[in-house]
Amino acid sequence: MTAWSIRQVVKWATDDFAARGIDSPRLDAELLVSEALSIDRVRMYMDLDRPLDDAERGAIRELVRRRRQREPVAYILGRREFWSRSFDVGPAVLVPRPDTEALVERALELLPEGATGRVLDLCTGSGAIGVTLAAERPGLRVELADLSPEALAVALANAAKHGVEVVGVQGDLFTPVTGRFALIACNPPYVTTAELAELSPEVRRHEPTMALVSGPTGFEIHDRLVRDAGEHLDDGGTILVEVGAGQAEELARRFAAAPWVSSARTHRDLGGVERVVEASRRARDA
Ligand SMILES: C[S@@+](CC[C@H](N)C(=O)[O-])C[C@H]1O[C@@H](n2cnc3c(N)ncnc32)[C@H](O)[C@@H]1O
Repeated sequence: MTAWSIRQVVKWATDDFAARGIDSPRLDAELLVSEALSIDRVRMYMDLDRPLDDAERGAIRELVRRRRQREPVAYILGRREFWSRSFDVGPAVLVPRPDTEALVERALELLPEGATGRVLDLCTGSGAIGVTLAAERPGLRVELADLSPEALAVALANAAKHGVEVVGVQGDLFTPVTGRFALIACNPPYVTTAELAELSPEVRRHEPTMALVSGPTGFEIHDRLVRDAGEHLDDGGTILVEVGAGQAEELARRFAAAPWVSSARTHRDLGGVERVVEASRRARDA
């Protein structure tokens, strides 16, 4: 019997994933096969007809088995790209989403090259937002905060991986934070309890519920930001908050009604969804 080649095993995994209704079956198969073989995808394409030995086939089978159970590819690989950097991820943290890059894009517009203020990444998870801002604007003093000690450990490891100095604090929203910030960035849980059941098996079964669900309305954490963020912002400072599809207008309205807010607006992500709500703090003596 001839040994299986890389080409054959990629096709086998692709067909298997497609039959199970997994999105992007070919890409997932290629990522997992190249991971199991410890080569990048370019090398894999160059070696498509290379026969695989038993150990290599065993390693591939193990990763395919995990994906069949709908474990996200990012958890199987242990990493996910965000703003062109590789972030370590695991079951304690949400896999960073491309949608969140809209928040980073707006933050970088507000924080020009050479900016030196304090920035808080609240609900930091993997640290994708705060570590990216610290790396892109080295003059900033960035703090990462999360309720989950396990998530905070991942975020601090990502900061070390990318060579940025940050401060990590653990606790419920603003509780562990002192002083004021020029910018607060926050991608909080915003899924409703009822919506959880409708999410894909990858998200529902594998990502931490505390990173996803805020409560019955989806606005539970958002409302606490509306109430408390003003106290933690410099005069003229800004909070940027990620929201779910359909939440932006309502959250902007709630921010605009808060006594500390001078203006509130929304920003779209690359998919055209209103994804980020921005609120600015008025001067305290105005
Ligand atoms: C949607 S994830 C965001 C992760 C990351 N910022 C990102 O954009 O990929 C929300 C994060 O908020 C954290 N979290 C949930 N409730 C919190 C609370 N009350 N205070 C602080 N962090 C909280 C979760 O542990 C999780 O890491």
